[in-house]
Amino acid sequence: MTDLTTLEADVLAQVAAAGDLAALDAVRVSALGKTGSISGLLKTLGAMSPDERKERGAAINVLRDRVQTALNDKKAALETAALDARLASETLDLTLPAPHRRRGSVHPTMQTMDEMIAIFAEMGFAVAEGPDIEDDFHNFTALNFPPKHPAREMHDTFFFNTKEDGERMLLRTHTSPVQVRTMVSQKPPIRIIAPGRTYRVDNDATHTPVFHQVEGLVIDKGIHMGHLKWTLETFLARFFETDAVTTQFRPHHFPFTEPSAEMDVQCDRSGGEIKIGQGTSWLEILGCGMVHPNVLRACGIDPDEYQGFAFGMGVDRLGMLKYGMPDLRDMWASDSRWLSHYGFSAFAAPNAASGLS
Ligand code: PHE
Repeated sequence: MTDLTTLEADVLAQVAAAGDLAALDAVRVSALGKTGSISGLLKTLGAMSPDERKERGAAINVLRDRVQTALNDKKAALETAALDARLASETLDLTLPAPHRRRGSVHPTMQTMDEMIAIFAEMGFAVAEGPDIEDDFHNFTALNFPPKHPAREMHDTFFFNTKEDGERMLLRTHTSPVQVRTMVSQKPPIRIIAPGRTYRVDNDATHTPVFHQVEGLVIDKGIHMGHLKWTLETFLARFFETDAVTTQFRPHHFPFTEPSAEMDVQCDRSGGEIKIGQGTSWLEILGCGMVHPNVLRACGIDPDEYQGFAFGMGVDRLGMLKYGMPDLRDMWASDSRWLSHYGFSAFAAPNAASGLS
């Protein structure tokens, strides 16, 4: 029996000395594996007498069970130690200051749009929407652009390829098609704004191929230019949060309004910044006019019974003016320094009651 005692002491010492799971497994194989020391002992039983085998076999099985138990215990201990070490090394001290990261912010264009919607909502306008990909009827024909009329060319339109049926879809050049969609689907009185993206083949400091407009449309009985002027002036005073905004109406032509005008805001563009209410420059911010009778008729509204006004404002332009950004193209540059300088908190949604910006 002494050989078994010695072997047990030897294997248990090896188990105790194993420093990691790989070393422990090597010990297991050398003792209990096919050619291991304990497995070898079991193979000697066959040559023994029954009495001898009974006694010796029992002793070897006891040895084998003890070694197996020791291996299991050691394995559990090594795994616990490995987990403890990992937990200790991955500790995160939540009381330390967080590393500085740029927080997400609301883009000035979206902020401007939200401010405009808040003001018009308070003035009783509902928000209407239409698709960015339009057809010729809604973008041009229903808005009194005759076929082949030069005003179509002035819109620098992005066209899609002509379809098999001859129709050519386009990216809307203005939000005015939403006027048509609204008048076709609603009965007067109508009082809506339509904020959205618009597209033209154009690119310089005050034009980008994608830009944003807010369209306005009012249809009711007895509507005249005075209502239009009051609406625009009231809006601008609230938007710029001051009465010191100087504007000028310039006569203009749009096929879908008669009479038509453009409105400019006085500003100073001499320095690197742009300032409103002073200076010698004028920045065009909107087109407007009384809805043309042909447009009303195209939308199933009797011009002898109803009149209306419409306007289309450049959102990006108004944002530039309000927040002093000199170049419209920066809006699309995705420069994180610019965004952190001009961006707005996502938690400060503009509304007329608590202040806009
Ligand atoms: N749709 C015109 C433009 O984009 C603006 C406008 C809208 C003019 C409504 C008059 C009435 O230039």
